[in-house]
Amino acid sequence: MKKIAIATTGGDAPGMNAALRAATRTAARKNLKILGFRRGYEGLLANDSVTLDSRNVGGIIHLGGTILRTSRSEAMKTREGISRTSEVLRKNDVDGLIVIGGNGSFKAACELHRVSGIPIVGIPASIDNDLAGTDTTIGFDTAVNTALEAIDKIRDTATSHERVFVVEVMGRNRGFLALEVGVTAGAEIILIPEMKYDTVSIRQRLAEGYDKGKKSAIIVMAEGAGNCTDMARSLEENTGFEVRLTRLGHLQRGGSPTAYSRLLACKMGISSVEFLLDNRKKDMTAIQGGRIVPVDLEYACAVEKPIDRQLYELARTLSA
Ligand code: F6P
Repeated sequence: MKKIAIATTGGDAPGMNAALRAATRTAARKNLKILGFRRGYEGLLANDSVTLDSRNVGGIIHLGGTILRTSRSEAMKTREGISRTSEVLRKNDVDGLIVIGGNGSFKAACELHRVSGIPIVGIPASIDNDLAGTDTTIGFDTAVNTALEAIDKIRDTATSHERVFVVEVMGRNRGFLALEVGVTAGAEIILIPEMKYDTVSIRQRLAEGYDKGKKSAIIVMAEGAGNCTDMARSLEENTGFEVRLTRLGHLQRGGSPTAYSRLLACKMGISSVEFLLDNRKKDMTAIQGGRIVPVDLEYACAVEKPIDRQLYELARTLSA
């Protein structure tokens, strides 16, 4: 292995830069040449790259976003896109590729490996934490903390006005982010796609809370759990409560990574290069019980990661 390529792909996640820095510095130490492709798979398709070294990844460990920039690539869902990308990698004499990204990026990476035969290591970086085989992903902890800080502020105004707030958090079609944010924010109700709910029991639970002396209520709703605008409207129309809606949106993807997200990025960045040098062909750097281990990339995106139902039940007890 003489030359590796790195790209950050799909939705950005805080800590991508820290992972890029760690992988680049580890590779440089092993005397590998490193190409960084800009704008994710779109940059790979366009052969748009920059040579990376220990110096030009300096001063980025604390930065959110990705200095290589990123994109969502429709082309990588097609055969032509995959074969064009594999041609670009071959032309650049790339012996191994590191993809820092999430679910969709890893699906494309599996296909790319199948067509090109080039070894690929995926570093899981996503605020959704929806990859199987890894306890968590780079950026998830930061997104939880960002949303938490916002909800703590919402709680102040909610209590002052004795209002109900529906707060929508990201997570695509999964509820990992909403669940952790909901528990740590002390939300009265958490709505996630993995757990069925009905509006009648939500109304009942709200009323019970106010009867017990609560002065406000926070409902944390995952974007995949339904339409939050309809939910807020229906609650206002069918209860005596004043209801407001806040959609946290993309602010959850930005900001400086937390210490945990940086540490995870450092460990996974180092392991990604080691995996390539160990002749691994198609693996993700996963964390399991504090240890970084290889997990097949295909498994990571094909298997549905289970939600922590115990944590969900615990949240109901604590919101009494
Ligand atoms: O996958 C990360 C994520 O932020 C999801 O939580 C969200 O559904 C989606 O990306 C938003 O995508 P985009 O930035 O393309 O609008």
